[in-house]
Amino acid sequence: MDSITATTCTAEQRIVIESFLGGGDHRTLADDVLDGLTRPFKELPPKHFYDAVGAELFDQICELPEYYPTRCEREILEQRSAEIVARTGAAELVELGSGTAAKTRLLLAAMHEAGTLDRYVPIDVTESMVRASAQRLVEEFDGLRVHGIVGDFERHLEHVPPPVDGGPRIVAFLGGTIGNFTPGSRRRYLRTLSQLLGPDDFLLFGTDLVKDPAIIEAAYDDSAGVTAAFNRNVLTVLNRELDANFEPDAYDHVAFFDRDREWIEMRLRARRPQRILIGKLGLRLTFAAGEELRTEISAKFTPERIRGDLAAAGMELVESLTDQAGLFALNLARVRA
Ligand code: SAH
Ligand code: TRP
Repeated sequence: MDSITATTCTAEQRIVIESFLGGGDHRTLADDVLDGLTRPFKELPPKHFYDAVGAELFDQICELPEYYPTRCEREILEQRSAEIVARTGAAELVELGSGTAAKTRLLLAAMHEAGTLDRYVPIDVTESMVRASAQRLVEEFDGLRVHGIVGDFERHLEHVPPPVDGGPRIVAFLGGTIGNFTPGSRRRYLRTLSQLLGPDDFLLFGTDLVKDPAIIEAAYDDSAGVTAAFNRNVLTVLNRELDANFEPDAYDHVAFFDRDREWIEMRLRARRPQRILIGKLGLRLTFAAGEELRTEISAKFTPERIRGDLAAAGMELVESLTDQAGLFALNLARVRA
């Protein structure tokens, strides 16, 4: 592959996809369930939301009138991508939790326009998303190479290919996904990410900002019920993958903003007592009426929180860009010299 120059390649030849989610991945789900559902307060890590159905539901969330983060981040990228690209000189874009890469196209287009675009490296747990976006993007951008990684951005970062010489790279983490880590893990993860960055590289990450709780809560509890369906979908994943017998409709979707910790929590609350058998694990558990399972937190940020996290991870903020309404920030950071 390396010996063929991009200009002579067909679109297919410019795509490499590596998958690190083999049979072993069922193990991670099993481990997470065994650990999370036997705790005094039940919880599950959010990455299990995103099977093909979950990814589709998330796409619908992004279009909801109440879900402002996607629109705000897109607005920033529409207006400032050229400036970000000029400032970084990036030839390569690595993206964590890339999804459909809908907003990423704006950055790639600016790199293309600047004549620096060489390679895009998306990482996502949803294989269909990585494949579909790779295909679409090589067709859209002349000469672009895509090295997709189907994997877990917490466990498989070592498989990110080394940078191609010739230009700096941007590591992008969009959508506010960084907020899905708890504060301590978030700082530790930022430190891990800093190890992907050379002295000329940049981290570009989106953060939802602290604001009126009513606006935040509506974004995670829309009137059409799409977020509720997305939340319950994790139970369907457990039924299918681990041979469990959850009745998704027996749980209410709960989303509330914790004003002290400044994060939103998503939970599933059992309407009545539940007896669950998780066949593949031989695990039996119960939910009391009203008992809750925490499925996600989504931390909201202040400028101080952004700077504090970066400092704790050995990085510094270069610039923080916000949308007109000041709801969301896109932050450019680098390793502290
Ligand atoms: N970046 C997109 C999608 C955000 S949703 C946007 O801004 O709209 C979060 C994305 O991260 C989903 O595509 C999900 O599949 C992916 N994801 C969540 N946890 C992950 C993990 N641990 N490893 C890799 N991808 C993950
Ligand atoms: N990273 C997104 C966020 O925190 C994911 C998300 C949006 C989400 N809506 C959700 C996760 C509802 C669980 C439930 O904003």
